Amino acid sequence: MKGIILAGGLGTRLYPLTYATNKHLLPIFNKPMIFYPVKTLVSAGITEILIITSGPHAGHFIGVLKNGKELGVKHLEYAYQQKADGGIADALSLAEDFADGEPLTVILGDNTTDAEIKSYVRQFKSGATVFLKKISGKSQLRRFGVAVFDAKNKKKLLKIEEKPHAPQSEYAATGLYIYDRHVFDYIRKCSPSKRGEIEITDVNNIYLSQGTLNWVELKGFWSDAGTFETLYRANAYWAGKGGI
Ligand code: DAU
Repeated sequence: MKGIILAGGLGTRLYPLTYATNKHLLPIFNKPMIFYPVKTLVSAGITEILIITSGPHAGHFIGVLKNGKELGVKHLEYAYQQKADGGIADALSLAEDFADGEPLTVILGDNTTDAEIKSYVRQFKSGATVFLKKISGKSQLRRFGVAVFDAKNKKKLLKIEEKPHAPQSEYAATGLYIYDRHVFDYIRKCSPSKRGEIEITDVNNIYLSQGTLNWVELKGFWSDAGTFETLYRANAYWAGKGGI
């Protein structure tokens, strides 16, 4: 299993903070944001990692992460997404050579969690696994991919809707995924969404249509950090915990 951290995008929702550097290098308590997803992967036993970034501050990553050895990474690579906001799946498409046919655990660079994912990584055989988290409040849910379940079988996932106006469940898709080698073929099948991005939700829905998508509920704390509110929330949580 190899690991991918998606750390591109322009971080426009955090202007003016992201005028000076990439969003994923901003502090979460006492560490740069990117350390958290690195730690999540390394704790799951994944030590071959590709970081995909973009935008004007891409070069800052090397100064912060160096070769990754201090964080327990054995092999660290970087890739550059040409279209800075081409979408999560567009960024992931750059990982095809690095993956070399192996399964991948993918985490968004602005997601922090203390959940243990090692057992899911070890058990993974094929298809895809998405991690869902129960979120209260429709206004919060509207920011995410949201699960739609079968009315007769509440555990049967029918589809994931990206940023729905009327969320049909309380389960948001976190930015944590495990994929088999088919992910790259599925990304090639996707077209840009209304917001002009190649959406990871479309890729997950292709796995669903193939009957090969599993979901699990993520235990523990999880938050993104892409808005002022969530950046603050993540900081408050990790400060209370004493960091990673
Ligand atoms: O945080 C979970 C949510 O992340 C999911 O529920 C949604 O389904 C998923 O689409 C995503 O939604 P966001 O709108 O919050 O994603 P955002 O554009 O903030 O991008 C999240 C991370 O993905 C960002 O920190 C860096 C990476 N990214 C994003 C884009 C658009 C890239 O590497 N390249 C990109 O082009």
